[in-house]
Formats: sequence, structure tokens, C-alpha cells
Amino acid sequence: ASVKVTKVCCIGAGYVGGPTCAVIALKCPHIQVTIVDLNQARVDAWNSPDFDLPIYEPGLVDVVKQARGRNLFFSTDVDKGIQEADLIFVSVNTPTKKSGVGAGFAADLNYVELATRRIAAVAHSSKIVVEKSTVPCRTAESMRTILEANSRPGCRFDILSNPEFLAEGTAIADLFSPDRVLIGSLQSPEGKAACESLAEVYANWVPKERILTVGLWSSELSKLAANAMLAQRISSINALSAICEATGANIDEVAHAIGFDSRIGPKFLRASVGFGGSCFQKDILNLVYLSESLHLPQVAAYWRQVVEMNEYQKHRFSKTVVDTLFNTITGKHIAVLGFAFKADTGDTRESPAITLVRDFLSERAYVTIYDPKVDDVQIWLDLAEACPNVPLENIKKQVTIARSSLEACKNKEAVVIATEWKEFREIDWQTVYEHMNKPAFVFDGRMIVDADVLKKIGFKVKVIGRGDRL
Ligand code: UDX
Ligand code: UDX
Ligand code: ADP
Repeated sequence: ASVKVTKVCCIGAGYVGGPTCAVIALKCPHIQVTIVDLNQARVDAWNSPDFDLPIYEPGLVDVVKQARGRNLFFSTDVDKGIQEADLIFVSVNTPTKKSGVGAGFAADLNYVELATRRIAAVAHSSKIVVEKSTVPCRTAESMRTILEANSRPGCRFDILSNPEFLAEGTAIADLFSPDRVLIGSLQSPEGKAACESLAEVYANWVPKERILTVGLWSSELSKLAANAMLAQRISSINALSAICEATGANIDEVAHAIGFDSRIGPKFLRASVGFGGSCFQKDILNLVYLSESLHLPQVAAYWRQVVEMNEYQKHRFSKTVVDTLFNTITGKHIAVLGFAFKADTGDTRESPAITLVRDFLSERAYVTIYDPKVDDVQIWLDLAEACPNVPLENIKKQVTIARSSLEACKNKEAVVIATEWKEFREIDWQTVYEHMNKPAFVFDGRMIVDADVLKKIGFKVKVIGRGDRL
């Protein structure tokens, strides 16, 4: 029979664990939820009296305000969190390995392993352990081996895979009404019972028919597959955007037309300067690595091309900027609007803006960046990491951070839109134009400006996926 869950612990208070478990606490007042993390500063931010949370996500503050102190707690006491819980989410980071076997492709499972070993070391009672981090297939199996080899007598560990499909910027809405919740378990009676326990938690707010239960490995692979298919759609539309620019077709019209085919569907067909975020590239590279280790080189090559197309798209866009500005941007001043990888988040992981700025810097242009949500510190960290051979003080000679779009654009030759922030749709282009050097160029990597209106003002305009003249 399945255990009724009353105490949940989440290891890892990051982008996934934080919002997910805060929503579980909100929707399940009868369950005590403790989110633990080794990072004291992060935990302190989650506990901050004025709700200055470590991540920005629309609606998150409201959720935390309602549940924190009631049945939602944040702590650095990992061991106590583990000991008290009946169900533990493992939601730690799984970055791409930077060295060793599989460097640049394979997931670094060190954090998952350490967290798992900790559970085995300190648990006094049976636990359901839920793998929430995106991890390659069969990680659950490794977790199970570690737990079983180290458990005390009378302690049983059941492993579930429960990948999270939330997107940043809409995390709370996605968690409130998910397309589906996916739970993978062993098909043994114990595995199914554990699965039932977790399904009951979600059933507090998610309709039963949206809670899918599958095998452990299908669940793990589905997460990689979903992200790979989504990224593949973007690379496909971006590949078509290059054809549009070369022929005079319009990618917006093409996307609209193909999206009407119910087999294709209208969503996720926005051409862009490239996809970013912590998941797409990482998960595809995981899939590539997995395929290669399974001796499936053609499968690996197929998925690798999705990432290669994305790299191509980013560099193609920066090359368009250089080509259009009379084949040189040396000493020219460029405003980059947006640094986050998408709107409504302060997250910059794998943001295409980083690649653009690096390309502009290597052409020795001056760049001014404005983003409504990204901290200056983060911008400097990202640029330092992107240009490892350039000392930060030299980067700072070429880069300025502005406090508004208008300030960023003042006295510049060109404006590059890298993130689709709503406020960029509402820019007073007439005023911007008056303050720019002439001829004034706008490069829209997110299809948010009305090119005709801007041209009337006097701008030279290039929009991604549009082949029309400046
Ligand atoms: C993604 C998945 O959507 C989510 O289900 C998974 O759990 C984590 O990875 P996220 O990376 O937060 O979520 O954002 P998403 O909205 O998917 O956007 C990823 C990138 O693709 C962004 O850089 C975005 O700008 C870009 N994108 C998205 C496009 O360029 N065009 C589109 O049509 C959609
Ligand atoms: C296709 C397009 O569907 C249609 O819109 C266009 O006008 C002409 O090309 P058709 O080739 O007649 O139509 O058949 P379709 O049903 O699309 O199937 C094409 C092939 O894909 C078939 O061999 C089919 O077995 C295969 N297929 C289709 C799959 O293997 N898996 C699927 O999920 C769907
Ligand atoms: P994600 O986007 O997957 O949520 P993040 O990097 O935002 O990833 O968050 C992961 C969190 O997990 C970090 O705050 C990190 O400090 C925490 N963490 C990693 N390993 C452990 C561990 N063994 N115990 C507790 N917390 C951990």
C-alpha cells in the first residue's frame, strides 16, 4: 500500500527545486515542505524578511509569502531535512562536465551523487527519493545502487523519476497548471506504490488524467526528448529564417502558415537570434553523449546538428551586424538591449546575448548593455567567462552597462535587440532616433519592432528572418 506523504524535503534551492516545492507547499497545506541547500547565501535570500528572493520569477513572491513559515521552510540543515522527510526531491545542479571523460557533453553527476550519498548516510527511516534534476537515462539506477549499498537495516529506498517541465519566466503558471506531470518508477509493486504516493501529492491540484505514470527509464528519456524536440523546432525555424533573409520571404508568415497544420501546431516557432537557457543545449549534448555511448553515431550526429545550427544562427546574426555596418564595427558604438536568455527572467545561462557581445568585442567595437533584470555582477561574470583570454579591466574598457534603453542607445551607431522584453516593444523610437548617430541602425534578433514604423522615422532596420531591404 502506498505511504501518505506528510513531510517533503527538497535538496537544492535553485531554479527548479525552489519554485516547484514552494508551489507544492502552497497547494498542499497539510504537507510540511523543507527546502535545503548548502549555499547559505541562497537560503538566506529565500528567507529574507522583505522577500528579496534569489531568483526572479513572476508570481513567485506571492507563493512564498503565503506558504513560508506556515508549511514551507528553507534551511541549510540538509541532514535534518533528510531525516524528517518521507519523500525527498533531489533537485541539485547537473552542469555539463568541463573536464574528464565526456567533457563538454556529459552531465556532471557529482552533485547528484553527493546528495544521494548524503541521504544514504543520514537516513534512519524509509524514504521515497525523487530524481528531479535533469539527468541522463539510468541515473535513477545509479542512485538506487548507492542507496541500497549504504542503507541501514529496516530502511527502504524507493526511487522515482519526476522530471520538471517548467519554463523560466512562466514557472509559477506552469506549475499551477502543468500540461502533464510525469512520474517514472520501477514496475514492481513497491515501485508502483511509491509512484502512487507522489501522484497523490500532485493530485491536490493537478487533474488525474494529466498525471502520467511510466517506467523509470522512459521518464528520464522523456525529459531529454522533450527538450531536444523543442530545441529542434527552434533550430528548424531558424534554419528557415536564413533562407527567408536570402530570398525575401518572411519567417513570420512562414511560421504562421505552417503552424496552422494541426500536426505541426503554432507554438514554439518564433525565429530568434538563437535559443539559450540552462536546459536545451545541455540536454541535447547529454542525448548526443548517450547516443555515442550506446554506439549510435548517426543518432548522435542528428541531435548534434540542432546545437550546431544554433551556434550558426548566433554568429550569422553578429555577422549581419558587421556586414551591414559597412563591413567593420571597429571603434563603433553598439547598444545591446537585453542580456537574459529570454524575457521575464534574470537568468543569463547560455544567453545568445553573451555570444553576440563576445563577437562584437572581438571586432573591437564598444558595447553598451541594458537589461531590466540582470545584475551588473552577472554581466561581468558572463563576459569574463566568455572571453577567458581578455583581462576583465580590458573588457570594462569596451563595455558599459546602462540603466535604460534610451541611455543605452544614446550616441550609438546601432541598436541590437537580443531579448524580447516587453518594455522593448514600447520603446519611444522617435526619441531614440534623435539621440543616435546617423545613419542609425536597428538589428532586431527577436522580431519585436515594427520595421515599417522605424523606417519612416529614418532608421535602417534588419529583422531576423526578413529578406526586405534596409
Ligand atoms: C525549457 C523548456 O521549455 C522547459 O519545458 C524545460 O523544463 C526547461 O527548458 P526554458 O529554457 O526556461 O524552458 O525556456 P523556453 O521558453 O523553452 O526558451 C528557451 C530558449 O528558446 C529561449 O532562449 C527562448 O528565447 C528560445 N525560443 C523559444 C525561441 O527562440 N523561439 C521560440 O519559439 C521559443
Ligand atoms: C504528406 C503530407 O502529410 C501532406 O500534407 C503533403 O501534402 C504530402 O506529403 P503523404 O506523403 O501522403 O502526405 O502521407 P503522410 O501521412 O504524411 O505520411 C508520409 C510518410 O510518413 C508515410 O510513409 C508514413 O507512414 C510516415 N509517418 C507518418 C510516420 O512514419 N510516422 C508518423 O507519425 C506519421
Ligand atoms: P537548477 O536550475 O537545476 O535548479 P541551480 O544551480 O539553480 O540548478 O540549483 C541547484 C542548487 O543545488 C544550488 O543552489 C546548489 O547549492 C544546491 N546543491 C548542490 N549540491 C547540493 C547538496 N549536496 N546538498 C544541498 N544542496 C546542494
